[in-house]
Amino acid sequence: MNAEESMELDRLLFVEEPSEPDEPRVHAAWLPPEAFRALGARRVLIHGDGLLVDTVLDEVSRACARYGGRVWHSPSWDVDVDLVFALRGADELPSLSVRAARAAGEAALAETGDGAPLGDEGFLLARDGDVTVVLADAPAGLLYGLFHVVRLCAAAFDPARPAERHRPALRRRMLNHWDNVAVHPVMGQVERGYAGGSIFWQEGRPRGDRARLREYARLLACTGVNAVSVNNVNVGRTEALLLTDRLGDVAEIADVLRPYGIRVHLSVSFAAPMILGGLPTADPLDDAVRAWWAATTRRVYERIPDFGGYLVKADSEGQPGPFSYGRDHADGANLLAEALAPHGGVVHWRAFVYNHHQDWRDRSTDRARAAYDHFAPLDGRFRTNVVLQVKYGPVDFQTREPVSPVLAAMPATRLAVELQVTQEYTGQQRHVCHLGPWWSEVLRFAPWGPGGRTIADVVTGEAAAGGGLVAVANVGDDRFWTGHPLAQANLYTFGRLAWDPRRDPAEVLDEWITLTFPPSATADPDLVRQTLHEIMDDSWRSYERYTAPLGVGFMVNPGDHYGPGVDGYEYTRWGTYHFADRDGVGVDRSRASGTGFAAQYPPYWAKVYESPESCPDELLLFFHHVPYGHVLHSGSTVIQHIYDTHFAGVEEVVAMRRRWQTLNGMIDPSVYERVAERLDEQVRCATEWRDQVNTYFLRKSGVPDERGREIH
Ligand code: GCU
Repeated sequence: MNAEESMELDRLLFVEEPSEPDEPRVHAAWLPPEAFRALGARRVLIHGDGLLVDTVLDEVSRACARYGGRVWHSPSWDVDVDLVFALRGADELPSLSVRAARAAGEAALAETGDGAPLGDEGFLLARDGDVTVVLADAPAGLLYGLFHVVRLCAAAFDPARPAERHRPALRRRMLNHWDNVAVHPVMGQVERGYAGGSIFWQEGRPRGDRARLREYARLLACTGVNAVSVNNVNVGRTEALLLTDRLGDVAEIADVLRPYGIRVHLSVSFAAPMILGGLPTADPLDDAVRAWWAATTRRVYERIPDFGGYLVKADSEGQPGPFSYGRDHADGANLLAEALAPHGGVVHWRAFVYNHHQDWRDRSTDRARAAYDHFAPLDGRFRTNVVLQVKYGPVDFQTREPVSPVLAAMPATRLAVELQVTQEYTGQQRHVCHLGPWWSEVLRFAPWGPGGRTIADVVTGEAAAGGGLVAVANVGDDRFWTGHPLAQANLYTFGRLAWDPRRDPAEVLDEWITLTFPPSATADPDLVRQTLHEIMDDSWRSYERYTAPLGVGFMVNPGDHYGPGVDGYEYTRWGTYHFADRDGVGVDRSRASGTGFAAQYPPYWAKVYESPESCPDELLLFFHHVPYGHVLHSGSTVIQHIYDTHFAGVEEVVAMRRRWQTLNGMIDPSVYERVAERLDEQVRCATEWRDQVNTYFLRKSGVPDERGREIH
């Protein structure tokens, strides 16, 4: 690519220069101006009023200014249009074509929906002759409709396009930022953040970059995310103040995110009545404590009327909670829920509660059991505005875990699944590890047995009353938002799966590719698309191959959780062991001879997991301690599987790097360089994983590789 072409690409793929000329420009991620070309070249009419309608108007106006289209906002004269965005309740307009398009939309609505309403966020897209119409009952529907049109590109204007209606399956689609306000001495500005500093906070103060936050809001709105918590679940002293003295900082963020339909939530400390209110106790049944939460919450809503609610990590890893007062988690959650209820707020109460002071000599305690043991007995006791937020697996965001049994054990509780977009255990945004297929596997899991209700059904709930989907965010102040440019796809995919948890992740990835690398600005779009699929589609499985085997988990370096540390956690208090010895490896979690965790599942899976014969290979070492010679369903022995997958995993990463090199000169050079750099590191780190894991197990077992490859 020559310099002129490179500048042209730059112009197409990056948002406008920020006002401070010295600031590095920020990558436009999946919303480069070029993605708006089809829309921006049209004559567009927007009809309706409201903050979010203004946002649609602003987006369309900018696109039209760039690509030569025209935009009108409810004109009182006749106009010819190609695209109409209209609120259904808005008055008739003089334009005949607009009237006809709206009527066609109404007819399509009646035909497609068996009377179901579009709801607060749904929309309909239909064609009438040469006109595309988007109808919604509420402004948020028009905003989501706008991004749908953007995703469709020219296809939104295809005369043969049948009418389609969309509404989110899940009411709340939420990101949790583990951002600290004050820099934490160990965890830094963003706990488990791999993309630089926080976009919200900087060394104790708000970062104050409203333009950046607005960009973030529009990226999220395009995916469908509608809620964000703005501070870490581990709440320190400075962060606790966001609830009271520093509420203004939160209100400022809310003001920037609101035009994109995103509500702000806050992580709070259960000890807030003591830390902030000077009370002698935080006992959830104490009247003064209840009054304090009620009054404090009232003040929050006076300042932020659409405030979403609280997020709480209690009695977990040192955070305060109801156990200090002999109360349980229902008492704790209901205290906050009671304060939020009059204002329509919710409390997200995390189920990540376990003993992190375990004695590794004690084989009877099992961290995997903890969430179920604490929470399942409380089913039915939570107020309706409590959402119990459950990590997808019973341990901790591992590359492979069984789905948490809590999700099948609490039918009378609103349950949300918590995913981790930030790649704490999956390569820390230095490795390509596309998580869509993994999340989709979790969401499609049928805990009562094949063919039964799925996790997607659980979080959707009856009449969309389920708890929704939540994820720990992966962005920072990095110019590519996520450190690794390809990690943007994880954020995008999370939002799209939260909108519709039944979607095919490969299709979502394809959508991301089209937006991020617009075919009209790419030299060889087919090659780019194919190469990205080849690199990303199976990257989670490649990562699994070269890290901890067969579901056993961890084996990472303690503390930062990056790179191999096979025995790193083996003799610690954290409860994450693999129990490898000279004869075998794995954790016996059966009912018959182990910790009994397998029995926490409904009968179908309890039976499958109970025996090494029926347990799926990929979870074998999570549930069983087996000899190295144990033969897997795949026909391989455990030890040979370990060797084979570790060699294969590294080869796959080397192939990824080779494939990426074919894109040199074909895409934005800065994206190319950043990814190339990270692939070098991925090859290095995967090789380290392979050699340490293979060597460890060769030394333990004494069993040579049957293919005689080099193991050290
Ligand atoms: C993991 C992670 C912590 C985090 C915790 C949580 O253990 O390492 O940094 O605080 O999860 O989810 O609360």
